[in-house]
Amino acid sequence: MNEALKNILERNSHRNLVEPIPSKDEMEKVFQAALRAPDHAWLRPSSFIQISGDGLQRLSDIFVDFAEENFDDLTEERIEKYRNAPFRAPLIVVLVSTKKDHPKVPEMEQIISTGTAGQNIMLALSALGYGAIWRTGSFAFNNKISEKFGLNENQTIIGYIYIGTPAGKKKSLPEMNTDDYISIWD
Ligand SMILES: Cc1cc2nc3c(=O)[nH]c(=O)nc-3n(C[C@H](O)[C@H](O)[C@H](O)COP(=O)(O)O)c2cc1C
Repeated sequence: MNEALKNILERNSHRNLVEPIPSKDEMEKVFQAALRAPDHAWLRPSSFIQISGDGLQRLSDIFVDFAEENFDDLTEERIEKYRNAPFRAPLIVVLVSTKKDHPKVPEMEQIISTGTAGQNIMLALSALGYGAIWRTGSFAFNNKISEKFGLNENQTIIGYIYIGTPAGKKKSLPEMNTDDYISIWD
């Protein structure tokens, strides 16, 4: 089978992610792939924050501060969960969508464009032999979390891609019956 198609058909998400992480050159390719996402009027809404090493501690501090300031009924157990969350992978890419004013391109289209950039990142990583999982939870689609990153009110975090080398058993791929999802008009 064609390798590019095989990569799409066999991609899956990995929860157990360890070192090694992609090299600088490999991440350059991954971001080039991200920036080939479809983008109405070439508004370039997508940008990325690449986090590893000490940056993971910085992210952990952001998650804990945000939770303490915004969540009711916060237990010590939940705080610990948020504190540890960034350390589930050695590398994280934060997907940021910046709303640009345009008469024909609403914000929703710009967010979708950043979503497709996220999928290009996942596919490029898979093609290079790395694993990843897209996560959101309470720390996405939220102006207050954007502020903690120093982003402005037009900037939305739409997801966190956790990245590394897959560890443990490979998940089996679900079998999908296209008949359940496709209607054909001809
Ligand atoms: C926008 C978006 C947000 C997601 N958020 C989470 C999340 O917060 N936590 C989680 O465990 N999975 C989340 N997922 C799902 C996983 O990334 C993954 O797609 C799912 O576990 C299915 O695995 P697969 O991609 O191998 O089919 C999210 C997926 C998308 C597209």
